[in-house]
Amino acid sequence: MSRILLSSSADTKAYNDEGDLIKEAENGCPSNKLPPATENPSTTTRASPDSPYSQIYVMESACPHLGADMSHADIEECETGAIAVCPWHRYDFDLRTGKSETGLQACTYRVEVETDPVDGVDKVYMEAPKGGTGWKVVELRPVSEEFADPPPKKPEGPTKSLDEPEKEDEPVVPVTNPPKTLMQWAVLILNTPNPRLKVERTKHAVHLFRTGKLSSIGHKSPSAPRPPDVPSREETYSRNVVDPSKVKNRRNRAAMLHALANIEQWASWDIMARFGPTHPNLPPAFFADFTKMALDESKHFSLLVSRLNALSPSTPYGSMPVHAGLWESATVTSTSLLSRLAIIHLVHEARGLDVNPATIEKFRRAGDAETVDVMEIIHADEVTHVTAGHRWFVWACQQEDERNRKEGREERVDPVKRFREEVKRGWTGEIKGPFNVEARERAGLTPEFYQDLRGELGIGAPRQDISKEEKVEDSLVNGVAALKVEYE
Ligand code: FES
Ligand SMILES: [Fe+2]
Ligand SMILES: [Fe+2]
Repeated sequence: MSRILLSSSADTKAYNDEGDLIKEAENGCPSNKLPPATENPSTTTRASPDSPYSQIYVMESACPHLGADMSHADIEECETGAIAVCPWHRYDFDLRTGKSETGLQACTYRVEVETDPVDGVDKVYMEAPKGGTGWKVVELRPVSEEFADPPPKKPEGPTKSLDEPEKEDEPVVPVTNPPKTLMQWAVLILNTPNPRLKVERTKHAVHLFRTGKLSSIGHKSPSAPRPPDVPSREETYSRNVVDPSKVKNRRNRAAMLHALANIEQWASWDIMARFGPTHPNLPPAFFADFTKMALDESKHFSLLVSRLNALSPSTPYGSMPVHAGLWESATVTSTSLLSRLAIIHLVHEARGLDVNPATIEKFRRAGDAETVDVMEIIHADEVTHVTAGHRWFVWACQQEDERNRKEGREERVDPVKRFREEVKRGWTGEIKGPFNVEARERAGLTPEFYQDLRGELGIGAPRQDISKEEKVEDSLVNGVAALKVEYE
């Protein structure tokens, strides 16, 4: 049986009007009628019963018990049909009805498969969840424990980045004090300087989390470990061996890959470790979203480094400037979850959506089909990261709203207004376009969030100490798509 994870988003207003989708799911199974395409059956005919799609089930991925991510549930066949067994406490749910022997009810949605008479293609329609309008598909991805889809090729060049200090022997699971909770894993990973070991530990920790092998998330525990102020990184990677002024010309493609590989490896672990303990009401779905993001970012790193090795063995990862721009934003936003979500996930990551298509186009024009494939995988993942940023930003606004209400305060928290305030406080300068309006909108970020918006952080106090290298780094990361690419 194959399995596909479908992420979708509704218009922002729906969240305000109807409340939190997570809460709705806990209270039962909100559902609407099927989308309009099926309301006009005259244009479609039913798929034949022997169609390979005659048995399709759609079930909400958050378990109604304590919210485990059920996309990795075991699926078992029994006399009554197929059941999904939650990986955390092994409760079973009928895939068709959502019913569990425990009395709990998972949300399931009606599905119809119809053959389009025009192109003869079987199309799947599902009931839209209630409490939202303008549902859009953000992502459809085959669920796989495989690290990458497709898995990264074995690097053709040297497998090591520079002369890495020999830390290869350090085990993925530390021998003394192995982490038992997700929070402990997050802090261990943030304190792991070697990027390859970081990737291995991320894969391992996410697997343990998804399969219910951790004792808990651990964010409610008073002894949850604190994340480091600055994530540690290998000495080697701060020691650049390529003169940045030479990065511009012959090695442009390599420079782009290098800059892209460097982004975001730590951000998703940091948000979990930093804000989990300060927000004990964060539900498991938050950690499901951000562990997925951590795994994606590790995948991106591996795919990009693998392409970098293949394309330019003489400039392995770590040989060019390693950008630290995101860390600055992380520091600025380290005391507020709303600010962190706004600046890192809805400004920086959303900017990625704008520039990726042009980057992909450049690799395509160079005939580099393999990098195009890699970048397309990355782009699709990044849309889901912005979606997660938006989802939890809206959630945090609602929490604040509830607090206000309880404490008898009148003011209501509007996500758009609040986002714009956060950007003013935590960002410097204009939010630059051109925008990938379509991809942003799919992630829930409608133009009212970001149009004509200027950050005022540090206005009036210009930095004097910016070095030539930093300027090159900045232009690489922030303007990676604007680089003029020349080929050898
Ligand atoms: S059975 Fe799914 S979270 Fe407990
Ligand atoms: Fe990424
Ligand atoms: Fe990302």
